[in-house]
Amino acid sequence: MNKPLSTRNKTIHTSLENGQDLLKQCMNIENNISDIKSIQNKVILGDLFSVCDRLPEKSMDLIIADPPYNLSKQFGENKFYQKNNQEYTTYTRQWLKKVMPLLKDNGSIYICCDWQSSLIIGTVLSEFAIIRNRISWQREKGRGAKNNWKNAMEDIWFATKSKNYTFNLDAVKIRRKVIAPYKTNGKPKDWQQTANGNFRDTCPSNFWDDITIPFWSMPENTAHPTQKPEKLIAKLILASSNAGDTVFDPFLGSGTTAVVAKKLNRNFIAIEREAQYCIWTQQRLDVAEKNKQIQGFNNGVFWERNSLKEQGKG
Ligand SMILES: C[S@@+](CC[C@H](N)C(=O)[O-])C[C@H]1O[C@@H](n2cnc3c(N)ncnc32)[C@H](O)[C@@H]1O
Repeated sequence: MNKPLSTRNKTIHTSLENGQDLLKQCMNIENNISDIKSIQNKVILGDLFSVCDRLPEKSMDLIIADPPYNLSKQFGENKFYQKNNQEYTTYTRQWLKKVMPLLKDNGSIYICCDWQSSLIIGTVLSEFAIIRNRISWQREKGRGAKNNWKNAMEDIWFATKSKNYTFNLDAVKIRRKVIAPYKTNGKPKDWQQTANGNFRDTCPSNFWDDITIPFWSMPENTAHPTQKPEKLIAKLILASSNAGDTVFDPFLGSGTTAVVAKKLNRNFIAIEREAQYCIWTQQRLDVAEKNKQIQGFNNGVFWERNSLKEQGKG
C-alpha cells in the first residue's frame, strides 16, 4: 500500500498493484506494424531496441527523446549505470540508429540532456540529422554540489532530417509585459493594450527561463524521478508539428510527451519499458481526456513565469 499524501500534494503515484486496470489499456508489440494508425495514441510497454524494429520507416513527424543522462539512476526496476564517454557515445548511436529511420524526411527531432551528456549527444546527433539549435533550459531548481557549481541548466538539441521542416513561430511566441510602450500616431506600435495591462508577443529565443520542473502541488506531477514539464514539451510540439501529426517518444517515462500531444490534438506513439511508468502515463491520459489545460499556456499564449495575475488567475 502507498503512504497517503497530504491533500495538497497532487503527485500521481498509483502502485503497480493498484494500477493493473490502467496497464491493460497499454499495449505490447510482438509483430511488425504496417499501418501506424493501429498503434496511435496507445502507450507501448516495451524496450525501444526491439519495438522500433517493428514500426514502419518514415512514419513520425516529430521525435522527442529524453534518454537517461549519463548518470547512474534507478528507473523503476532497471538501473541506468554511468558509462565512460566511449560507451555513452556507443549507446547514443545505438538508440539513434533505431529511432531515426522512423522519422519522415520533413520531420524534426529534439533530444534532452544535461551538459555532460550534451557534449556526446550533440556530436552523435550530427551524424544523423542537420543540427538547427541547442536550447538551454534554466530549470530553476538545481542539483547542489559541494565542490562545484550547482547544475541548474539542461540542453535540448533541435535537429531536422532535411531543409524542409515545420516551424510554427507564431504558435510559440511569449507574451511579455511591455516596459517601453512606444506609440505611433497615438496607437500601440507592436503591443496590445488590455484591461490586465500592456503586452507584447515576442519571438522565443533558445534560452528558456520561464519553465519550472513539475513539483508536488502540480496536477501533472508524478513520482517519476526525471519528469519533464508539460509546458516545455508543449513548446516543442507546437513549434515543430501540426494538428493531426504523429509525435514519437521512445523514452516516455511518466508520459509527458503523450499527454501534451493529446492536449494539443496531435497523435502520439510512445514507448516505455517500465510498467509502473506506463500506469502513471495512462492515468494522466485519462485526466487529459477531460482537462486539456497546460500550466503556463493559456488561450494559445505562453506566459512568463509567475504571471498568473496577468492571465486573470492571480
Ligand atoms: C529521462 S526518462 C524520461 C522522462 C520523460 N521525459 C518524462 O517526462 O517523464 C527516460 C525513460 O526512458 C526509459 N527507458 C530507458 N531505456 C529504455 C528502453 N531501452 N526502452 C524503453 N524505455 C526506456 C526509462 O525507464 C525512463 O523512464
